[in-house]
Amino acid sequence: MGKVAIVTGGSRGIGEAISLALQEMGITVAANYAGNDEKAKAFTERTGIAAYKWDVGDHEATLAGCQKVAEDLGPVDIVVNNAGITRDGVLQRMSFDDWNDVMRVNLGGCFNMAKATFGGMRERGWGRIVNIGSINGQAGQYGQVNYAAAKSGIHGFTKALAQEGAKYGVTVNAIAPGYIDTDMVAAVPPAVLEKIVAKIPVGRLGQAHEIARGVAFLCSDDAGFVTGSTLSLNGGQHMY
Ligand code: CAA
Repeated sequence: MGKVAIVTGGSRGIGEAISLALQEMGITVAANYAGNDEKAKAFTERTGIAAYKWDVGDHEATLAGCQKVAEDLGPVDIVVNNAGITRDGVLQRMSFDDWNDVMRVNLGGCFNMAKATFGGMRERGWGRIVNIGSINGQAGQYGQVNYAAAKSGIHGFTKALAQEGAKYGVTVNAIAPGYIDTDMVAAVPPAVLEKIVAKIPVGRLGQAHEIARGVAFLCSDDAGFVTGSTLSLNGGQHMY
């Protein structure tokens, strides 16, 4: 039987490119999404990939959502924790909600998804978890104490869970994208973004499919010896 993957935030941006890359590998993909029903419907019509709505920051909803995917498509072998939000602002102006929403979704989402799926992967002796971190979790970023903390947390989470999964054939890795041409980056004020792009040695934003290729590799059988690693895909902006 073919493999089944869940890509969180999988119907838009980097997540959409990841869903498509996994589909190309012959994997049955479920794209999770939280908000935009219309965009998710259009995505399913365009790609044939089923979309499932739940908030990855909600523990019970995530357990139920993953169970529904498993009932519909089969046991979940691959999880890509891609769902993420920003609530940028300097600390002076950042509210507790701005902090908490980002921690709950970006980092809490990884925990919730792992709780729902890691046990089954372990029992079946094969699994792949890929967590989308960020250059800003590695290097920090002005105006992002919440996002940088959550993404940095993802890198620690990855290394800890990798140690628990290794002997059961479950690899856990992270990708740390730099600035990618998505709606999230388009929301950065143009003058700020211009300065950021000027610091990227390759001289441009990354493309979603360039992140997806990295994810595809980490999800493949060929990557069985890669675990606990972080693949930095950032155009040379932060060499780590
Ligand atoms: N380093 C030092 N100082 C900085 C700075 C920086 N990187 N950025 C801004 N400042 C300074 C400004 O020069 C300015 O100083 P003065 O008041 O002395 O002129 C001051 O900080 C205020 O700057 P802003 O006018 O930009 O302040 P603001 O409150 O309007 O906005 C902000 C602050 C919301 C953080 C805005 O700067 C911003 O959006 N920055 C971009 C943050 C960012 O990169 N987010 C990434 C989103 S994409 C993503 O997260 C995906 C991923 O994984 C890479």
